[in-house]
Amino acid sequence: MRPADLMTMKQAAEKIACLTSYDATFARLQEQAGVDVLLVGDSLGMVLHGNDTTLGVTMDDMVYHSRLVSAAVDEPLIITDLPYMSYASVEQALQNASRLVQEGGAQMVKLEGGQAVLDTVARLHENGIPVCGHLGLMPQSIEEMGGYRVQARTEAAANQLRQDALALEQAGISCLVLECIPASVAAAVTAELSIPTIGIGAGIDCDGQVLVAHDMLGMSAKLATFCRDFLTDNSSIADAFAAYVNAVKARDFPAPENSF
Ligand code: KIV
Repeated sequence: MRPADLMTMKQAAEKIACLTSYDATFARLQEQAGVDVLLVGDSLGMVLHGNDTTLGVTMDDMVYHSRLVSAAVDEPLIITDLPYMSYASVEQALQNASRLVQEGGAQMVKLEGGQAVLDTVARLHENGIPVCGHLGLMPQSIEEMGGYRVQARTEAAANQLRQDALALEQAGISCLVLECIPASVAAAVTAELSIPTIGIGAGIDCDGQVLVAHDMLGMSAKLATFCRDFLTDNSSIADAFAAYVNAVKARDFPAPENSF
């Protein structure tokens, strides 16, 4: 998979199946299951490090886990998160994104934010680094957002998100993660953009879906509303990953009860 293949999938109305991946063993099982995109997410700060937020994750953490994943697989597209405060300036973003590509083997970097990151997105794009945007619930701004809750519920907030999405597309993003927003807002954004959207808690109409792998294996303390435990009805982790891919491709996940 290359970044341009995401666009081809959107145009062909083939759903994109994405999971988080932080190590070689899970990455290989995910590749065998046909997962299209492996996201080396800074959620590793919560999942692997046991913290309450992603804020403590460093560039060295992201480079390390990105390298473990990218070295283990050939087929899936590797997207790696720029962690908290690693893209506070355009120059810093360029330097750190280059590290994720050169040392971490990332094919695309992800960053959170709307208007505030447009110059950064444009600069990375100009320098040939594909960028994935991230709007809605943005865990790196969790203190400002006041907790893990559904975003863009009011008309004004939904309009702001739509404007941000369009501006990010113009600045050069290759795809956009939409986290925890009403399904109707995600559907409208997905229809307006020519680049693909990948939703988590954003309804069935996104061009693709992403879940934290440990959550969809039922390993987290509490199963979020937008998640499904795919291990319950499967006898192995490999089968659970394959069931997830099938459910996403067949538009069987997310169901209405997983949406806002
Ligand atoms: O860090 C991460 O795993 C993410 C996903 C939840 C989209 O950003």
